[in-house]
This record gives sequence, C-alpha cells and structure tokens, in this order.
Amino acid sequence: MTLIKTIEELKTVLFRIRSNGKSIGFVPTMGALHKGHVSLLQRARNENEVVVCSIFVNPIQFNNPDDLKKYPRTLDKDVELIKSIADVIFAPEPEEVYPELPNEKFDFGALGSVMEGAYRPGHFNGVATIVSRLFNWIKPDKAYFGEKDYQQLAIIREMVRQKKIPVEIIGCPTVREESGLAVSSRNQRLSDEEKIIAANIYRILQEAKKNSDLPVNNIKELVTSEIGKIKEFKLEYFEIADAKTLQPVSKVTKGNTIACIALYLGEVRLIDEIIL
Ligand code: PAJ
Repeated sequence: MTLIKTIEELKTVLFRIRSNGKSIGFVPTMGALHKGHVSLLQRARNENEVVVCSIFVNPIQFNNPDDLKKYPRTLDKDVELIKSIADVIFAPEPEEVYPELPNEKFDFGALGSVMEGAYRPGHFNGVATIVSRLFNWIKPDKAYFGEKDYQQLAIIREMVRQKKIPVEIIGCPTVREESGLAVSSRNQRLSDEEKIIAANIYRILQEAKKNSDLPVNNIKELVTSEIGKIKEFKLEYFEIADAKTLQPVSKVTKGNTIACIALYLGEVRLIDEIIL
C-alpha cells in the first residue's frame, strides 16, 4: 500500500500502473471508513488489478459549516483498516485539491433539484467537482459508489454521461448494522441510545415497502405519522420516486420505485433508501 498526498505523485504512480496494462478500480470516500466503504473496496479488489481509494473531506460539498467542522477525520485508523485491500490511498490536503476557488458549474436538471438537491443547495455541484477532478487524475476503469447515497449515484452516472468520461460506474448495496441502521460515518456522532432510535428509520422504510400496494399519498402519510411518533426525529423529506429519474411518482412500480428519507436526529442528519 502506498499513501500519497500530492497530485503529481498520484499521476506518476498511476501512469506506471496504466503503462503496465493494469486495470484500476477506484473508490472515492471522505474517510472515517467503515464496513460500507470496505464493501465497495472489496468489490473493487475482486474486479480490478489495482485498487485506489481517495480519502478527502471535500469542503465545497458541505452547505453547513458546522457539519464540515464536525465531520470525523481519522486518517491513521482509516489507513490501518484498508491497507490490506487498497494498493493506493490518496489523501490530499484541501490546498492541494483547490489551490484556487473552484468554479466548475454542473447542471443535472430535474435529477439535481429534488431531495438532497433541494435541501442542500450546491451540494451536488461540490460532489461533481471533486469526483470529476479525481476521475481526471486517476483515470479509473471502474468506480464504485454506494446506493446508500442513491441520488449521488444517479448524479455521478449523469455527470459521466454528460462529460463522456470513460469510466464504468458501479452501484453497490447499502451495508447495514444488525439493527437495520445504514452504516454511515455520521453514526460516529450518535450515542448508543441514539443508534437504537436511528434503527427505526429502516424499520419504517420496510413498513413502507410492505404497504407499497397503497396509493403513494397513503404510504407517505403512514411514514410521516410513524416518524412523527419518535420525538427525537425531525423529518426533512420522505419521497417516493422513479428509481432512474428520481422524479416523484403517484404509483409504485415494484422494483423501479425508490423511497428516500432524510431526517435529523439531534444535530446529526441521516439519510436512507429502500427500493419498493
Ligand atoms: P462518503 O460518505 O465517505 O462515502 C463514500 C462512498 O461510500 C459513497 O459512494 C457512499 O455511498 C458509500 N457508502 C457510505 N455508506 C455506505 C453503506 N452503508 N453501504 C454502502 N456504501 C456506503 O459519498 C461521499 O463520501 C462523497 O460525497 C464523495 C463521493 C467521496 C465525494 O466527496
């Protein structure tokens, strides 16, 4: 495993790898690595000769300065966790990635204006900026993203289509705790008691799935009412949408409709998803 901090060194190392005809699998992350990230890296390991993981808390995708400040940074622990899976870990400082203020502008149309796009203005522009730069430096054959951030995965697919970037995007299923809670770096900010409360999110999403024969409005009412019963939750949105376009639907088509939720538990914002 090689730990790299600069773009120049990254390019040199990867140039050598590519010249030897080796395939490159890439997993972009913001660190505080957990078994969700590890599942992406394992998949990349199985499907490529060389595995690259980036660890970079991307400041321009945070629309809440407090969230950025409190985002866990655990590089030494992260390296320990993945050093036997990744060949290259790229962990640059913000000045290395953004020597000047970035000004890339992306337009994802309706795909980018719903759900996370609506509640976190500028978020996907920041994600697309960093991921397109990383793709450009690393030039991976395949890149791996989690379905946990379902809209992000759709946005990345759209960016790759728009910019004609030669990379295959691979979506990977959400890894959960035994309780059903989707594993997330932000869970580190939850107390044990809050983690038990947070497990209700997936329980309620499964409840929605069980009731997917009902009209969409009734499913939404059911979920809103269930979430409302838990006083620690502050619901931001619950949407039922087409799994490809992410636009709201009035009727569930089994296998092609996704339910997405975002809520606050105390100060921590959690998201989750389930295919209906
Ligand atoms: P981060 O939140 O660190 O997530 C990195 C990748 O791991 C994303 O593709 C995310 O969907 C995936 N992931 C997170 N939790 C998961 C889980 N429980 N199961 C499966 N996959 C999971 O997403 C980002 O970072 C950033 O926006 C990034 C793409 C790196 C751009 O800065």
